[in-house]
Amino acid sequence: MYIKGVGMTKFDYSQKPWWEFAFEAATEALKDAKMKISEIDAIVLSAISSAAGGEHQTHKISLLSDLFKTNVPIIEIPSVCAGGGVAVWVANKLGFNNILVVSGEKLVDNKSEITVDWILSASERVIEQTEGLIFPAQNALVWQQYMKKYNATMDDLALIAFKNHKNAVLNPKAYFYQRPVSLEQIKNSPVVASPLRLMDCSLSVNGGAAVILSKERTDIEIIGSGFATDYILTFGRKEPYHFKATVIAAKQAFEQAKLTPKDIQIAEVHDAFTSVELFSYEDLGFALPGKGAELIRSGKVNIEGELPINTSGGLKAKGHPISVTGLAQIYEIVNQLRGKCNERQIKPVPKIGLCHNIGGTGGSVTVHILKKTIE
Ligand code: COA
Repeated sequence: MYIKGVGMTKFDYSQKPWWEFAFEAATEALKDAKMKISEIDAIVLSAISSAAGGEHQTHKISLLSDLFKTNVPIIEIPSVCAGGGVAVWVANKLGFNNILVVSGEKLVDNKSEITVDWILSASERVIEQTEGLIFPAQNALVWQQYMKKYNATMDDLALIAFKNHKNAVLNPKAYFYQRPVSLEQIKNSPVVASPLRLMDCSLSVNGGAAVILSKERTDIEIIGSGFATDYILTFGRKEPYHFKATVIAAKQAFEQAKLTPKDIQIAEVHDAFTSVELFSYEDLGFALPGKGAELIRSGKVNIEGELPINTSGGLKAKGHPISVTGLAQIYEIVNQLRGKCNERQIKPVPKIGLCHNIGGTGGSVTVHILKKTIE
């Protein structure tokens, strides 16, 4: 399948219902594709937030039918933080001529504790939820084990946060647009779950994103689409500091694309926590096992480096509205491949990019590889 259009709202704390974010992003994607909604044959929706702040609208697909004035099939794909990526994986397989993939979330509509508790519903219920193992705590435990095994430090994570914040300053749709954050501020930010600090955590925000897939040849082709799952209980896994689902999804995507990690020129990597970005370098094949820290220290993944990662600002500094994230990653890579990213455009304009989207602490993962088809 090809990508015909992409759309995305600004990520912030705007208080609009989830479907308004979805509608705004879809409208932008249709405009980008020069299409009308009547030309869309099916819609795939991924959104968790109707239950978050009391918006009890479980029949979301009918609400979208109403909103878009369409009677086409609408399929809802929930997969928490990987929802956007899984929705694209499904849409890619469905076989419709033109299909809209859309997401919108009003994740932050109350006190932070309420949002954090809502996100916790994505973790395992009997042990993790009852122990209050919120995602920052789970990821701190995973990272402690990684640090014990490999030669990496909190300073390496600070470099990842610094890189992503620097990129977000250049992205008008990122929460931290034009709001620079120094390395000192990162290193001195409050500890959330030791050793992870505030500036190691992704930023919960509201927003929407949309992607239109088409059988018709366009300037961007999806040449690899991988999807894998893993046990929900993070510490039931043999090596929790490597996400097996990432390794499998990446292998599938690279095999389909007939490429290797060395061929990737730009990537959006799921930095739910800076630690996750670091070991995902290894899981995706950008670094050897245990060598993720060397990659960030080398500067190769900076915006001016050989393999820029998270030029959008990532989940850390652009923001992470759960199901929307996977589509927002595609939005960034498509615009980079089209040379439309202005101040944060990488040069030369890349031809091949990768999107890596994780649900939970590695419980579901998609990897998509996109290629520019027209010079
Ligand atoms: N990075 C940078 N700034 C952050 C931030 C983050 N991760 N989280 C919150 N802030 C900022 C807010 O924008 C706000 O700034 P303002 O005062 O200028 O408006 C301020 O910090 C207070 O926000 P608040 O929401 O009250 O923060 P908090 O301390 O209660 O929550 C975390 C911080 C880390 C607990 C929360 O961001 C979090 O849980 N993040 C992870 C989300 C997650 O688990 N997602 C799923 C991944 S699998």
